[in-house]
Amino acid sequence: MGSGTLPGLRSQVTSITRSHIRAIAELGAAMEDVVPLWFGEGDTPTPEFIRAATAESLARGETFYTPNRGIGPLRQAIADYLTGLHARPVALNRVTATLSGMNAIMLAMQTIVDPGDRVVIVAPVWPNVREAVRVLGGEPVEVPLARDPDSGRFSMDLDRVLDACDARTKAIFVNSPGNPTGWVMPDSQVAALLDAARARGIWVLSDEVYSRLVYDGSAHAPSFLDHAAPDDPLIVINSFSKAWSMTGWRLGWLITPPGLGDLLGKLTEFNVSCATTFVQHGGIAALRGGEGYVAGLVARYGRARRTIVEGLLSMRRVRVAEPEGAFYAFFSVDGESDSVALAYRLLHEARVGLAPGLAFGNGGEAHLRLCFAASDTLLNRALDRLRPVLDA
Ligand SMILES: Cc1ncc(COP(=O)(O)O)c(C=O)c1O
Repeated sequence: MGSGTLPGLRSQVTSITRSHIRAIAELGAAMEDVVPLWFGEGDTPTPEFIRAATAESLARGETFYTPNRGIGPLRQAIADYLTGLHARPVALNRVTATLSGMNAIMLAMQTIVDPGDRVVIVAPVWPNVREAVRVLGGEPVEVPLARDPDSGRFSMDLDRVLDACDARTKAIFVNSPGNPTGWVMPDSQVAALLDAARARGIWVLSDEVYSRLVYDGSAHAPSFLDHAAPDDPLIVINSFSKAWSMTGWRLGWLITPPGLGDLLGKLTEFNVSCATTFVQHGGIAALRGGEGYVAGLVARYGRARRTIVEGLLSMRRVRVAEPEGAFYAFFSVDGESDSVALAYRLLHEARVGLAPGLAFGNGGEAHLRLCFAASDTLLNRALDRLRPVLDA
């Protein structure tokens, strides 16, 4: 192969930075005896009834392309599931199945973001959101959540978010329950943000992939789907990854105004054509028969949350609030301001793999993210190993 200069590449692509989370995880994976709590996924395989439905689809020979927006029965299952869960019905013509939550985010951005457009993003946030805007030539504008210095609790100043919107702003992106913070947007703010977006003629992109993972006994976190009319400027992103333990399957969905449906079908054609056929059958099983599984998962993660928060709070230098949703503890450590340096130190000295807060953008630095979707044994081992560094 030649070694000359490559022909021109898009600057938005050459400027993509490596994820701090991937970097530390790759280093840690090559080390012995590390407790890996850096990624956002559980440690249990997808439940058997979902795997069986997928295997049956494969056995039936369902290995062909599907319609761009997904097979009818999956789209209907998504519409029924959301209609059962939320205050307002969601009709079939608003549903598009996607090849993961990430694909759903990218499709939403491709629909809205022209080069030079701005997307206001409530931060700290999963880094992929920011990068999706950048890859398209848009400009992410991150508005940090406020954090109470004593309790460590996060909250959103809605005026600050709206003040960050200008004539170039096309959308506000919000992820509640939030990765990495575990913050849950109160229902009153959901309604107020939707009202403001309607009045200003900008989109709300609501990432609700952790919607079911809340610990106050509610069936779901406050959602824009409880308030929105079908034609509101709202796109809701969701995924099978978290609530049904299906991270490797790559299946998600979008809820949009009905008028966007054809367009999303065409966009899907030029991205991935359709979600994987037999995986879509697993998705139907998850939605039609998964409520018991979801309830069990929330109970288990709720216990893990208590173990981790109590364990961390017993260490003198740690400040952490109980996350209201998702499955992360996002904590700060007195005397430590460089999250990347601290994450590497903890990897080497404590053999615990955590994600550095810097990866999550504005408001993330000086924090570490620990994913507590793991067994008690693993979590207690992590706490025992962190103590000598964080309690010192
Ligand atoms: C906030 C948020 N949105 C979307 C996703 C995408 O999930 P997936 O692409 O696995 O469906 C993730 C995964 O970590 C996430 O944390």
